[in-house]
Amino acid sequence: MRFIPILNSTDRIRVFLVSAAMLLGAVGSARAAGLAQIVHARQEHFRMIGRTAKSLRDQFGRSHLNWTAIGSDAQTLERLASALPSWFPPGSGQGHGVKTRASAAIWKNPQAFAQAAHVLLMRAQSLNQAAARHDRRALMFDARALGHACGSCHSRFRAHGSWW
Ligand code: HEC
Repeated sequence: MRFIPILNSTDRIRVFLVSAAMLLGAVGSARAAGLAQIVHARQEHFRMIGRTAKSLRDQFGRSHLNWTAIGSDAQTLERLASALPSWFPPGSGQGHGVKTRASAAIWKNPQAFAQAAHVLLMRAQSLNQAAARHDRRALMFDARALGHACGSCHSRFRAHGSWW
């Protein structure tokens, strides 16, 4: 018995096409894996923003403000806000086969998105200054303004559904 495959030319073409398709599939899934990582890291960063903003708000109920904790949260928020624009490389939004709420509007209207990110950064900077001055009134005001910056970006650039 002989198992050495003897391929005719049609078979050879078929083998070629199948391996080309597999190769393309592998490239495609490598790209998807990279994309999934980008989106996962971005969502982690946003969860960190959410946790930090909550930790800051939780301080407000106390009779004595813990300025050290507040200062550290404000710094974390400023650092994350300044990094935010880099979490959105082109092709990492909805419509590229990955589960995300990043609306396509981010890349259709990059200036408006950059502006929304910039507003967040300015609010976080102002919050930091209030924390450094131990200025309770300004801190409350800035924290509210920060919250508005989150909401106004979400209403324009965060989609409702999370698929594709
Ligand atoms: C410049 C726009 C912008 C600003 C400002 C912004 N966000 Fe978001 N946020 C987004 C987008 C877009 C997503 C969706 C990301 C995704 O699904 O890939 C998101 C997602 C989130 C998520 C969900 C993360 C997850 O689990 O998937 C949280 C929580 C969040 N943001 C909190 C905040 C808070 C709190 C602030 C303000 C302190 C804020 N964001 C400011 C655009 C913004």
